[in-house]
Amino acid sequence: MTKPRLYSGMQPTNDSLHVGNYIGALVQWRKMQEEYDAFFSVVDLHAISVPQDPKELREKTRRTAAQYIAAGIEPEKSTLYVQSHVPAHAQLAWVLGSITGFGEANRMTQFKDKSSRYGSDATNVALFTYPILMASDILLYQTDAVPVGDDQRQHVELTRTLAERFNSRFGETFVVPEATIPADSARIYDLQEPTSKMSKSGESPQGILWLFDEPKAMQKKIMRAVTDNDGIVAFDREAKPGVSNLMAIYSSLTGATPTQVTAEFDGRGYGDFKKAVAEAVIAELEPVRARALELLDDPAELDRLLAVNAARATEVADATLADVYEKVGF
Ligand code: ADP
Ligand code: NA
Repeated sequence: MTKPRLYSGMQPTNDSLHVGNYIGALVQWRKMQEEYDAFFSVVDLHAISVPQDPKELREKTRRTAAQYIAAGIEPEKSTLYVQSHVPAHAQLAWVLGSITGFGEANRMTQFKDKSSRYGSDATNVALFTYPILMASDILLYQTDAVPVGDDQRQHVELTRTLAERFNSRFGETFVVPEATIPADSARIYDLQEPTSKMSKSGESPQGILWLFDEPKAMQKKIMRAVTDNDGIVAFDREAKPGVSNLMAIYSSLTGATPTQVTAEFDGRGYGDFKKAVAEAVIAELEPVRARALELLDDPAELDRLLAVNAARATEVADATLADVYEKVGF
């Protein structure tokens, strides 16, 4: 039996991913690549929907790919590639644009959030059509499952609508994908503002744990994480967001349940608990950082891996695109 298909990706918007991306995306992807025929993309086409410096974009793209591999996405098992290396993404997006209503696209809440941040003169049209490109990314691979964060749920809904619409107008063409949203425990918050999601664009330098942080820096950030005064290691996102966030990090890296963590640190205070969290984070991420640096040290080998994987992605994507072109009358 063939494995079901999975597609996911991240934008190369930073030099480093953070612990939220690691626990909320990369760890899930690493597990899922066993049961799925998985495609993982570094979505550089999406990245230019906001201003980018070309030299930096190229560097961030390679660093993001290196972090995927370092986190355990295997380029021989999964297809790990850079979106712009596969022209079919942009080609299918154009066709999908022709079956998307303007009002329908206009209802996407992420565009509203982002464009209001930039203002209408600084907002480009690619930011508006972004969800159509995302639909193309997913549908090209006849994807069954799309692991994404909650903020992308509406875009996957649009993708499903477009797949169904195309299928009913032109005949069965696309698999209609399902979003798989990670558990709440895989959502990581800022260490300094534990009610805001840890984010690449976050504003507190001490609140974000970067995968490229040195162990010492990680240790320091965790020891200084915001908690509360009651000294009890218990999971309660509402009343104890800081402690709960550290517990979520610790649980997801060690496999201990929140109840076990509470028992383990009963009567020991936050100092001990934070030390254990820092140890677990460093034990997990130091090898990831080292491996990513090693990959970046050998650009020719990284380029070779990405080229082989892009060729594999192109083969699947081009087959879908040829079918679509035929059906629309090209
Ligand atoms: P960011 O908000 O840091 O820019 P993205 O929106 O690019 O991150 O998300 C990339 C992937 O990482 C998505 O799968 C998203 O769900 C996941 N992710 C991002 N931030 C977090 C977080 N704080 N906790 C868990 N998962 C996250
Ligand atoms: Na984001």
